[in-house]
Amino acid sequence: MNNIETKLGKLQFQNPITVASGTFGYEYSDYVDFNKLGAIVTKTITKHPKIGNKPPRLFETSGGLLNSIGLQNPGLENFIKDELPKYRGFSTNLIISFSGSSISEFKEILLRLEDEEGIDGYEINVSCPNVENEGLAFGVDAKIVNKLTGELSKLTTRELTIKLSPNVTDIKEIAKAAEDGGADSLSLINTLLGMAIDWKTGKIYFKRGLAGYSGPVIKPVALNLVYQVAKTVNIPIMAMGGISNWMDALEFIYAGASVVAIGTQNFVNPKITIETINNLQNFLEEKKLTIKNLIGKANMEEK
Ligand SMILES: Cc1cc2nc3c(=O)[nH]c(=O)nc-3n(C[C@H](O)[C@H](O)[C@H](O)COP(=O)(O)O)c2cc1C
Repeated sequence: MNNIETKLGKLQFQNPITVASGTFGYEYSDYVDFNKLGAIVTKTITKHPKIGNKPPRLFETSGGLLNSIGLQNPGLENFIKDELPKYRGFSTNLIISFSGSSISEFKEILLRLEDEEGIDGYEINVSCPNVENEGLAFGVDAKIVNKLTGELSKLTTRELTIKLSPNVTDIKEIAKAAEDGGADSLSLINTLLGMAIDWKTGKIYFKRGLAGYSGPVIKPVALNLVYQVAKTVNIPIMAMGGISNWMDALEFIYAGASVVAIGTQNFVNPKITIETINNLQNFLEEKKLTIKNLIGKANMEEK
């Protein structure tokens, strides 16, 4: 293993840098050699195409971004036909993010993807409403997360990552439920819930009221949740939440992440992933350190 290599469950990563679902479409191949990333994580796909939410969809805050995209995606079959062939061409790990509105729909999507070659893993987005549970998000209920993970893990030998929502009372309980259900790894955090109101008129900015909050401002929250979850489970973590440079990436690795994903920062600097990999590599070489030896080594020592 060289000093920047790492692992996420069953997957070997040439470096720990990947991208957060929904923030890094195929168009980024104009700026970034995808082969150089640790993995590619796709936008969440659903069984049927989704046109997404009515605009406005984005609102910038100081240090953060609110989004209300509404899982716009071409749907499973169009994804397989039009997008998967393009992604398959890359030598790095390919992780497909998907979501369903019931456990049976999640299973159906996974089984359909199992027929397709060139996929290394699945990131299960549990932040969507569950039609079988009064529309509550799957990810807020430990029992349902456990059941969903258990059902999906029986159907695949590919890497199974459960992406956790931070909008819960105790994320550790949900993390444990996913681990007990057979998840190979966990991914966290999805966006925090937020909203925007115009102070001049009192008008609520987003049509749905709520939006997902991301970007540098959420980093301390994400760091704490990753640290807490890492102490609770024995499976590896893919961390995201406000990572903007190689130093942020390193902090998450110290907190217990084996792999880190860059999200919102891709909108600010489309080459941030590659810059982060290069800077991290230089740092590790200069200090003669390896990623493997830094994972979970956050400490209280005076240095
Ligand atoms: C515009 C936008 C779209 C997103 N779409 C998805 C998505 O489709 N699926 C998903 O699991 N997370 C989605 N996310 C959440 C990110 O993957 C990530 O978990 C979150 O933004 C925190 O990381 P960041 O602060 O680096 O962006 C989206 C985030 C943004 C900003």
